[in-house]
Amino acid sequence: MNVLNSVQMLEFNEKGDDRGHLVIVEGAKDIPFEIKRIFYIYGSDSDVVRGQHANRESEFVLINVAGKSKVKVRDGKGNEAVYSLNRPHTGIYLPKMIWKDMYDFSEDSVLLCVASTHYDANEYIRNYDEFLKIVNEG
Ligand code: TYD
Repeated sequence: MNVLNSVQMLEFNEKGDDRGHLVIVEGAKDIPFEIKRIFYIYGSDSDVVRGQHANRESEFVLINVAGKSKVKVRDGKGNEAVYSLNRPHTGIYLPKMIWKDMYDFSEDSVLLCVASTHYDANEYIRNYDEFLKIVNEG
């Protein structure tokens, strides 16, 4: 099975009225896991590449609640895809064991990251060669 097939864009319910917008993201309903952690990334220059890791356990949903960025995902078997995040009511679901790079941040980018786990540095794979080995050799 190609892990890239489970990467998907998600559309969230948006309630707009004359007071503005409100976007709803409920764990295990609007996204396919219970939410254990959120963090957000802002103030990254446009030439910065973040991420550059895979996670053994964590699944994520990334939402550019302001501004824009791009996410490149790789399965380590030669397949890759690039997604643009540029709408506050749209997110991307990233399964575990996928290599991700976030880049092309606009100056006003605020990238909200929703995770299925609490932070554990040990489940991060930060070396691409190690990732390739795990994916291709088990
Ligand atoms: P890092 O994983 O490099 O961020 P990104 O993948 O978004 O580029 O994380 C930056 C630092 O923050 C690193 O020292 C680990 C720490 N960190 C936590 O302590 N908890 C967390 O939930 C996250 C995502 C990072």
